[in-house]
Amino acid sequence: MAPHRIGILTGGGDAPGLNAVIRAVVKYAVGKLHWSVIGIEDSFNGLLEAPHRIRDMSPSNCQGLLQRGGTVLGTTNRGDPFAYPDGKGGIEDRSEGLAKAIREQGLEGLIVIGGDGTQAIGLRLMDTHGIPVVGVPKTIDNDLSATDLTFGFTSAVEVATDALDRLNTTAESHDRVMLLEVMGRDAGWIALWAGVAGGADCIAIPEIPYDPDRFTAKIKERRMKGRHFTLIVVAEGARPMEGEKWPSEVQHGKGRIQTEGAASTLARLLTERMDVETRTTVLGHLQRGGSPVAFDRVLATQFGVRAVELILAGRWGEMVCLKGHEVDSVPIRDAVAAYRTVSPDHSLIATARAVGIEFGA
Ligand code: F6P
Repeated sequence: MAPHRIGILTGGGDAPGLNAVIRAVVKYAVGKLHWSVIGIEDSFNGLLEAPHRIRDMSPSNCQGLLQRGGTVLGTTNRGDPFAYPDGKGGIEDRSEGLAKAIREQGLEGLIVIGGDGTQAIGLRLMDTHGIPVVGVPKTIDNDLSATDLTFGFTSAVEVATDALDRLNTTAESHDRVMLLEVMGRDAGWIALWAGVAGGADCIAIPEIPYDPDRFTAKIKERRMKGRHFTLIVVAEGARPMEGEKWPSEVQHGKGRIQTEGAASTLARLLTERMDVETRTTVLGHLQRGGSPVAFDRVLATQFGVRAVELILAGRWGEMVCLKGHEVDSVPIRDAVAAYRTVSPDHSLIATARAVGIEFGA
């Protein structure tokens, strides 16, 4: 049987551990099985734009990738071949041309490393153009229902926890309320985990719209006990209950832009209600950059090897995942069907409440 020749790409926002997946795929598929692995740059765009941006991957050009953040293949969240910018302000379907380019390159199929959006594109390529695809899930938000964990999440939580530890000491020195805004537009996993790990007093997540009065009550309660500082973790998608303004937006060109982030909104609502000195830190992309923690390096390596095993077994159309402590796989179709947010009755919410963390509702 001729050795396999496959493409590999990374799509959507980056996450620590992407390079570790690439390295694992290349070390196994090229180094051990003697396949050809072709890296496609900037998601599907590397084969959509002329000249094509692709490269032969070998174990030697993957040296040092295990601990390196970002993705050496580049990525974009503006590369949907089914809705590609036409250069005139509109969009066009370029998927046919992409499928042709994949075939011309002699690629038997693709390993697609990305979040739900990228996996959905892969699935559509398979359904409409017969391009075989194997998926590897990625998101620091940990919001894919098909896998118990995605690599990058633990690294992001580590960064956010470290930030909380640092804010804790300065908050205490100055008797301030410190608000830390972390990523999580629709899912509050990073805020919840970091909040518990960093000993936050309050956590605001998108899944639990908050009543600012409950946070002010918590701050006052702490003061009564002689604790004159408070640590609050706010997910970027957290919002107050109805009736409160959020977010402040202004018209900008064809769209609207947010002028006040989730943490600043809450800081404003607190200062409107009580005499309090607040400081806000927005952690932003610091959570996505830098080296993956050990756990994410291991998970990414397991995911990369399992992706190759799926191809070996002819199990195209599946996405690797973690179930409990075991690496497994599920049909991509099932994986993209459901999104995993924090259920208000999740056991970690109950744990957090048990140790006195206030969620604002
Ligand atoms: O989905 C991952 C994520 O990090 C979200 O938590 C965040 O809202 C978004 O990406 C930020 O994306 P960008 O890099 O486009 O600013």
